[in-house]
Amino acid sequence: MELRNTPICFLILLSIPSYVLPLQDKLKGHQINTDQSGLLAFKKSISSDPQNFLGNWNETIPICQWNGVSCSLNGKRVTGLDLKRKYLQGAISPFLCNLSYLEQLDLSENSLHGKIPIEFGSLSSLEEFSLRANQVQDEVPESFGQLKRLRFIDLSRNQLRGRLPLSLFYNCTRLQYVDLSDNMFIGFIPSQIGHHLNSLETLRLYLNQLSGIIPASLSNSSSLVELDLEYNFLTGTLPSEILQNMPLLEILYLSGNSLESNDANTNLSPFFTSISNLTHLRELQLAGNMLGASLGNLTQLRILLLHENLFSETIPPSLGGCINLDILDFSYNKLTGTIPAEIVGFRNMGLYFNMSNNFLSGELPMELSKMDMVCAIDLSSNNFNGNIPPNLANCEAAEMINLSHNSLQGTVPSSLGKFLNLQTLDLSHNLLSGEIPASLSKSRSLVHLNLSFNNFNGSIPQGGLFNSLSIESFQGNQHLCWPSAEMQRCHSKKASTSYSCKFLIFLVTTISMSVFLATISCGLGFNMIKGFKIIKDNKASSNFLMSLKSNYPRISYNEIVKATGGFEKSRLIGCGSFGHVYKGVLRDRSLVAVKVLKLQSGNSTKSFDRECQILKRIRHRNLMRIITACSLPDFKALVLPFMANGSLESHLYPKNYGSSLQLSLNMRVNICSDVAEGLSYLHHHSPVQVIHCDLKPCNILLDNDMTALVSDFGIARLVMDVGEVKETTENTNSSTANLLCGSIGYIAPEYGMGRSASVKGDVYSFGVLILEVVTRKRPTDDLFKEGLSLPKWVKSHYHGRMEEIIDPYIIKSLRDQIPEVRNTWEISIVELVELGLLCTQEAPSTRPTMIDAADDLDRLKRYLSGDNTMTFASSLGLSSSVVILKN
Ligand SMILES: *[C@@H]1O[C@H](CO)[C@@H](O)[C@H](O)[C@H]1NC(C)=O
Ligand SMILES: *[C@@H]1O[C@H](CO)[C@@H](O)[C@H](O)[C@H]1NC(C)=O
Ligand SMILES: *[C@@H]1O[C@H](CO)[C@@H](O)[C@H](O)[C@H]1NC(C)=O
Ligand SMILES: *[C@@H]1O[C@H](CO)[C@@H](O)[C@H](O)[C@H]1NC(C)=O
Ligand SMILES: *[C@@H]1O[C@H](CO)[C@@H](O)[C@H](O)[C@H]1NC(C)=O
Ligand SMILES: *[C@@H]1O[C@H](CO)[C@@H](O)[C@H](O)[C@H]1NC(C)=O
Ligand SMILES: *[C@@H]1O[C@H](CO)[C@@H](O)[C@H](O)[C@H]1NC(C)=O
Ligand SMILES: *[C@@H]1O[C@H](CO)[C@@H](O)[C@H](O)[C@H]1NC(C)=O
Ligand SMILES: *[C@@H]1O[C@H](CO)[C@@H](O)[C@H](O)[C@H]1NC(C)=O
Repeated sequence: MELRNTPICFLILLSIPSYVLPLQDKLKGHQINTDQSGLLAFKKSISSDPQNFLGNWNETIPICQWNGVSCSLNGKRVTGLDLKRKYLQGAISPFLCNLSYLEQLDLSENSLHGKIPIEFGSLSSLEEFSLRANQVQDEVPESFGQLKRLRFIDLSRNQLRGRLPLSLFYNCTRLQYVDLSDNMFIGFIPSQIGHHLNSLETLRLYLNQLSGIIPASLSNSSSLVELDLEYNFLTGTLPSEILQNMPLLEILYLSGNSLESNDANTNLSPFFTSISNLTHLRELQLAGNMLGASLGNLTQLRILLLHENLFSETIPPSLGGCINLDILDFSYNKLTGTIPAEIVGFRNMGLYFNMSNNFLSGELPMELSKMDMVCAIDLSSNNFNGNIPPNLANCEAAEMINLSHNSLQGTVPSSLGKFLNLQTLDLSHNLLSGEIPASLSKSRSLVHLNLSFNNFNGSIPQGGLFNSLSIESFQGNQHLCWPSAEMQRCHSKKASTSYSCKFLIFLVTTISMSVFLATISCGLGFNMIKGFKIIKDNKASSNFLMSLKSNYPRISYNEIVKATGGFEKSRLIGCGSFGHVYKGVLRDRSLVAVKVLKLQSGNSTKSFDRECQILKRIRHRNLMRIITACSLPDFKALVLPFMANGSLESHLYPKNYGSSLQLSLNMRVNICSDVAEGLSYLHHHSPVQVIHCDLKPCNILLDNDMTALVSDFGIARLVMDVGEVKETTENTNSSTANLLCGSIGYIAPEYGMGRSASVKGDVYSFGVLILEVVTRKRPTDDLFKEGLSLPKWVKSHYHGRMEEIIDPYIIKSLRDQIPEVRNTWEISIVELVELGLLCTQEAPSTRPTMIDAADDLDRLKRYLSGDNTMTFASSLGLSSSVVILKN
């Protein structure tokens, strides 16, 4: 019986102790041939290899040169096989089991199907094995219990079924990383799972069909950092042993199960009291269970997802102790009472605050305005009353605020026009009254505004945002009037109590349609709703979680090495005084740019981490977001989103003309305006003032829709804090000094005289950048080597010979325009040049602030798009006299 299941090659190997093998190799010398025939048999089982990756797997070529193959140092045995994402199709050949020295086997992200060969149990050297994201079926063979050296196993995203492989959890005592998620495993989690896995750090079993309880024995795996059991059918309580004995636990995902609170009758149930012992916990997701309780002090917690539970108490003020929360989602519970001031004082909250769909009441706390880094606030569908706090606009980073479906009263504070990043504001279904503040039309960011179903009166303001809103945003406000036909007209004030004929017809039609639709959906409704819910459970929520996870990848050095193919040369997309930038792919397949910082000696990890935390929280549509950072004593890297359209540099000076687009004048103005907005945020609005120090076209990146994002901001800050600041000022040749002052051609003259970095220095660099964008002349051009800077050169041509200095492409497109457009363009070009010259004046104090520059560029943008009422503050008074094209 035993013998039948034990693979042959396993027996052969077992009879030779592994430490004798090198000697055996020497004696026999043909072991490499075994590896070769194993690999060739594997190749044979592959039915499709679209990239011909296995093309050089041929007897005539030495095996150690085959693609994806790595060998031991003496070149005698194959120790690694990396076939990740090679689009291979076919079965997995059992002959691979002959590679008895194989330590790493990565077959992830292919289309391999069939079973995992039982013979793999004889890969006695195997330490890392990934089959992630294939179409492998059937059970995990029990023979895996023989893989004594296994540390890392990832079988996630396949169609594996049956019970969890018990032998793996008993015998493979070195396991650190186990990911069996997103398969079809059924049954219980083995109750003894934790008895022997002392080194286990990550256990992911999410998206399976596991039932039963969470075994208490897991608490024996006291190294566990991440436990992810989401979306199974687990019941019972979370064992208190886990909560007490897992000091290192950082991530606990239990959403989408049917867990219960330990003691539903008390407010501070043991469950949550004991959670306060998990001092390292960063992410806790319990959404969609049936818990009901309160929380303790979790100072490291960054993500708390408790939506769709049955919490029916008031919000405990003690939650305010979770001072590092980024996401708090309590939506769809049965919470009552007010929002305690303690918890809205979450100054650090960086993503979202969602209390929607509860029974919360009382006034909105003034402290809401302290959340100046939060991106979204959703308090909709509660019973809040009172006024909208006028200082709400202090939530500077907010992009979405939803206060709809409450009982808010009073007027809308005109200060709401001051939001810097707000794109969506939903105030519908409240009791708000008074006039709609005209200040809202001035907001540059607002796109969606909903004021429906309130008691607003007066006329709808004109201009800006309001020109693009439809009646959908204002319906159900009886006393509101609008210049166009759908609503009552503004001049017929007397008739305001009676509806216009058209509006009555509209209303009657709408109502009867709704009644009709409601009747139909009552008939069809139930099934549809059910169907929808299933879809939502399996897809939407897991997508949501995925996106959340990709927002917060925890990145280790190894992951960075993997993501960048070991800092492979072909992945290098940029380099500068800070270090190198590589294109990388994270485990979730998202594309990123990895910036590896060059470090000085005598660095301090702590201050780097602290600075990083600050910079991670700086959010603005024109500033590059830092996704995460990796910080080790001698290695520091930043992970940033990958930008599809490259850098401004690559568009101004394309290496290959076919591959980049020519920047139109409009695009150039937009880019300058974006950069100005980003810098002005850094200088004047961000939580800490940041001086960029190295503004230049290769640090301006362009996303899919050509929005410009300033990158590398604050790196000087990071590196400066890490390296020794003193050393920097003394030794001007060190590269940190370079970091401080920026790049040649863009450095403000006062830096040369020993002045330290200042916002005015950035303004100077920005001025150079503008001039460069208009002239398409590098400030480092030979032309400017003999003391004549780009600004001086432009200035010397300012009267009369403008045509000679403007980018020929713009001049050419000017010629094609009708005279009116040409005139507008010429004025715009002159405005740009003037702003560039103002920003590059010698005396720092005479340069404008970035706020002024941003305002100017905003006006210019609007002028170019046809708004003729603009005047320009920056004007040197010469615009009207300058003509670029002489007819
Ligand atoms: C191996 O390479 C040789 C010469 O490069 C070629 O002639 C032969 O067809 C190849 N064999 C296979 C199996 O691809
Ligand atoms: C390799 O593996 C296969 C199947 O697992 C086995 O039949 C064969 O004897 C092994 N040895 C060699 C040298 O190929
Ligand atoms: C576990 O290891 C022991 C020896 O340490 C071995 O006898 C047993 O067969 C292994 N179990 C499985 C399921 O492989
Ligand atoms: C921890 O493991 C030991 C055996 O190694 C076992 O006796 C004990 O019950 C386990 N603890 C829990 C909480 O299961
Ligand atoms: C926290 O841990 C300590 C030490 O293990 C233990 O004595 C205490 O009971 C735990 N507290 C809770 C609330 O579980
Ligand atoms: C939470 O913190 C407060 C004050 O820092 C402390 O008094 C309290 O005992 C802590 N609670 C728990 C459960 O650790
Ligand atoms: C809560 O609100 C935020 C912000 O609007 C949103 O991203 C999140 O999906 C919401 N949560 C749920 C469960 O709908
Ligand atoms: C605001 O919340 C309400 C109710 O929760 C929802 O119906 C509405 O779609 C939300 N508004 C926006 C703009 O997301
Ligand atoms: C505004 O809210 C109302 C009511 O919730 C809704 O019917 C309407 O479609 C919303 N308007 C817009 C523009 O989203």
